Amino acid sequence: MPDTVPAATSPTIYVLNGPNLNLLGIREPEIYGHDTLDDIAGMLEDRAREMNLKIDMRQSNHEGHIVDWLHEAQAEGAKAVILNAGAYTHTSVAILDAMKGIVTPVIEVHLSNPHMRESFRHHSYISKAAKGTIAGFGALSYVLALEAAARL
Ligand code: DQA
Repeated sequence: MPDTVPAATSPTIYVLNGPNLNLLGIREPEIYGHDTLDDIAGMLEDRAREMNLKIDMRQSNHEGHIVDWLHEAQAEGAKAVILNAGAYTHTSVAILDAMKGIVTPVIEVHLSNPHMRESFRHHSYISKAAKGTIAGFGALSYVLALEAAARL
């Protein structure tokens, strides 16, 4: 037995953010709040540390990046994915297919409650393959999703 045991690697949660979420903080703050994506990353990192989890947070305005990162999450053995697909939620069969193609659980997250908004936001393609959905709590939606991910 070696006298120093290497620290166990913390399970990683991918947090993937789709189009326009780089503008959080300045984008329609009456809907999305004043927290920036960096603020949310900070909240998640603090909570993840307490739960011995690691966060890998990313944002892209390009649909294919989200698809690639979902594949990567599985290939890298992520424990779960928290996904705010932004407007792609309502349009993207490609992201739905990527979610169906992996076994890694994906939790759908929204800052706003899309069901209280325009009718085109009422349908989510990605809900069909999501483990569950958390919406309407602003930045807290992400923290609640992390709590759920930790318990999966
Ligand atoms: C959103 C809701 C979507 O309808 C919208 O297109 C977004 C953000 C949310 O977090 O509330 O970009 O996913």
